[in-house]
Amino acid sequence: AFNEKESLYIALNFAKEFFVQNLQKEEGKAIGLSYFKERGFNPSIIEKFDLGYALDGWDNLLKAAKEAGHSEEILLKAGLILQKEGEPERLYDRFRGRVTFTIHNLGGKPIGFGARILTQDKKQPKYINSPETEVYHKSDILYGIFQAKKSIREKDNCYLVEGYTDVVSMHLLGIENVVASSGTSLTENQIKLIKRFTDNITVLYDGDAAGINASLRGIDMILEGGLNVKAVVFPQGEDPDSYSRKVGSQVFKEYLEEKAQDFIAFKIGLYAEEAAKDPIKQADLIKQVVSSLGKIPDPIIRSVYIKQSANLLDIDEDIIQTELNKIFVKTE
Ligand code: UTP
Ligand code: MN
Ligand code: MN
Ligand code: MN
Ligand code: MN
Repeated sequence: AFNEKESLYIALNFAKEFFVQNLQKEEGKAIGLSYFKERGFNPSIIEKFDLGYALDGWDNLLKAAKEAGHSEEILLKAGLILQKEGEPERLYDRFRGRVTFTIHNLGGKPIGFGARILTQDKKQPKYINSPETEVYHKSDILYGIFQAKKSIREKDNCYLVEGYTDVVSMHLLGIENVVASSGTSLTENQIKLIKRFTDNITVLYDGDAAGINASLRGIDMILEGGLNVKAVVFPQGEDPDSYSRKVGSQVFKEYLEEKAQDFIAFKIGLYAEEAAKDPIKQADLIKQVVSSLGKIPDPIIRSVYIKQSANLLDIDEDIIQTELNKIFVKTE
């Protein structure tokens, strides 16, 4: 007999297969497959990521899964179906008329899905995602880690992006050491997960205000986790997927190499223009950098960065040290 967790894995694997096979059916081919084609996703990348299509109806998955012997209870607990409020008999598919991105655990088992809308319907969310379940803990997993782990170890670096499509598009360019935080803020456990494979993270968040702010938060989290962090800023409105398609593989790869800044340079770059004109902004910038320095647990690494910060900010190391001491007094 299987325990409940195993039943969830089996149901989620069934759903994955169902979504994948839908891409070969008439509706899925016409809508889902052509959507992926338009985005430049070829059959081999579709297979590598178990991309699929959820048919546009209320209970296509529910019916097929029940026929295959999966119980309603397990399908509900797997987050695959929903129950209409107050009507126990009214069950329906969570994912309908959307292309699907399978979320795998570290071992490659499907544990959830992200499903993208095909049209620009402002009334509906762009992505619908699996809820937290017994086997899917959002804060413990990163999209793409299963496909990336070998390359992260080999390259000794992990690119961190926002979205599902950024991961897939970078694989298309042959960049496989990439995972997505899926639009939510990075957690300690996600950083620990990356740390199993490398101590180096390069943040590639979207080139918009939300992406920059998420980068700033992410950088401090990563420093606190004791890892080294760099960041690349993309032109306004671009993300790794859109920018790589715009400029092509070669230029995109050069961009990553040339624009990767360590966290100090990244922060300084964001504030430098204003700070140059305004001594108060200059003081803010120093405090910003110092607050990140305070997150570095290793005193040797910290002292290296203190030197570098002093150089880049063109101020005395002692000033930084004095500011840092204030932080440490506060937290101790
Ligand atoms: P983005 O809005 O940047 O989408 O959200 P994207 O990944 O670039 O998608 P495309 O290129 O428009 O298709 C980044 C990530 O945030 C999560 C998803 O994981 C998405 O990939 N997200 C975004 C949601 O979960 N729900 C949403 O409604 C929007
Ligand atoms: Mn949880
Ligand atoms: Mn975004
Ligand atoms: Mn994006
Ligand atoms: Mn995008």
